[in-house]
Amino acid sequence: MVSRDLILGPSLFIGAEQIVFVVVTRPAAVVILAAGEGKRMRSATPKVLHTVAGRSLLGHVLEAASAAEPEHVIVVVGHARELVTAHVEEIAPWALTVIQDEQRGTGHAVRVALTDLESRGISLTNGPVVVLTGDTPLLTGQTLLALLHEHESAQARATVLTAQLGDPSGYGRIVRDDSGNVASIVEHTDASNSELYINEINSGMYCFAAEDLRVALSKITTDNSQGEEYLTDVIAILRKENAVVAGSMCADAAEILGVNDRYQLAQTAAIMRDRINEKWMRDGVSILDSATTWLDVDVELEPDVTILPNSTLRGPTSIASGARIGPGTTLDSCEVGANASVIHTWAHLAVIGADSAVGPFTYLRPGTVMGTHTKAGAFVEIKNSNVGNDAKVPHLTYVGDGDIGEGSNIGASTVFVNYDGIAKHRTVVGKHVRIGSDSMLVAPVTIGDGAYTAAGSVITEDVPPGSIAIARGQQRNVLDWVLRRRPGSPAALAAIAAQKEHAAQEEK
Ligand code: UD1
Ligand code: CA
Repeated sequence: MVSRDLILGPSLFIGAEQIVFVVVTRPAAVVILAAGEGKRMRSATPKVLHTVAGRSLLGHVLEAASAAEPEHVIVVVGHARELVTAHVEEIAPWALTVIQDEQRGTGHAVRVALTDLESRGISLTNGPVVVLTGDTPLLTGQTLLALLHEHESAQARATVLTAQLGDPSGYGRIVRDDSGNVASIVEHTDASNSELYINEINSGMYCFAAEDLRVALSKITTDNSQGEEYLTDVIAILRKENAVVAGSMCADAAEILGVNDRYQLAQTAAIMRDRINEKWMRDGVSILDSATTWLDVDVELEPDVTILPNSTLRGPTSIASGARIGPGTTLDSCEVGANASVIHTWAHLAVIGADSAVGPFTYLRPGTVMGTHTKAGAFVEIKNSNVGNDAKVPHLTYVGDGDIGEGSNIGASTVFVNYDGIAKHRTVVGKHVRIGSDSMLVAPVTIGDGAYTAAGSVITEDVPPGSIAIARGQQRNVLDWVLRRRPGSPAALAAIAAQKEHAAQEEK
């Protein structure tokens, strides 16, 4: 059964320098309870689908579960089951979902899961069964492995994941016996005065010997204040048989924090943010203000990236070495090349090439692909367009559905007029083109390589390579109009003075 063993470490049980490798048995199954309604979220979205760092609460738990390489992962769904099931199919197609029609307690939820597996012909003979809750996104795979390790080394028939809390109120308390094993779990409402002082609590997550779990679940009743089947009763039943029940305490109590309302969601997000930022800082990324830097779990950063305050990187955004992001930048699913700078920018599904400069106040929309050493400056919006290497869009410009060749410059206030009221059309700007300021490029239109457009032109016809296109009204000066029509105005007086000075110069 060597293949069922997982080798842990070196990071799991380390003292200062000492590295210890530990071997644990892979679980036969991890059951994740996610049937509850999550009323206190007061949300149309099911609780476990709320997100932290760009991943659902349930997604975080599935991620932790996969660290133990279980043979089966089962998510128990109930409330909003269609949404939760669809989400699981999307992010973890390897997991099974089981419907718990009515939420009749944590014990009932696990019983429903085991019964469902049986009906699918899945027997849980290889390894223990782990039970997790779907609303604890801070749980790590390492803690799960530590739970499995404790279960195995204590030769326990059940092991409770516990934590020490400053304020344990509301939680089930862990009563330990003389040998340090778990004697019982006492729910807050049933606890005596002295038991209320116990600050080691039940996380609601466990590891069980599969057969013990199955047998004990068939014995539990609803004879309690809530009229529910309590999973904790399994522990009581096993203790009655004098079975060893171990307790595995989390090193970091934050890991078992459950999200019940928006306040806890925010607290959890802040802890996750700090955890993610610490990881990247230790990997060589400079983060100037961790409290205002929000990185999703799928972000990839190279060493020597610098992130300035008030920046958010979402989705699978990747930033190459030497790039500086922020301040005040939000990038969603973007790719930024080496040594680029992206200041006060909002970008979604955009590629920014190496050595490019973007911002401040730039809006890059999906399909923007900027080459190397390019520029998109202040008040520039680009969408579904290619900006060739060394090309520049420095100021106040809209580039929509365009292809800009290498080395071209788009003058201030240019608009790629891409929409005729019915359909979108493309504008092609060749290489080393100079688009004059305030040009309207009315698509579909092509500006040939090396061509110019005169400032203020409305370009509706293709421009051949090397030409200049001038498309604007001829200028006409009506002499002395101001003197006649605005006599005595500051403008008229200034004009008269200038005319006198000019005449005096002529006389000399
Ligand atoms: C449980 C424990 C308590 C522990 C606490 C930790 C029991 C009797 N008590 O209490 O010792 O300190 O967790 O948070 O178990 N769920 C289902 N189906 C159900 C019932 C619950 O899927 O029928 C899910 C819920 O969605 C939730 C989780 O199981 O994610 C926990 O259930 P909950 O009823 O909140 O347990 P607690 O009363 O908090
Ligand atoms: Ca609860």
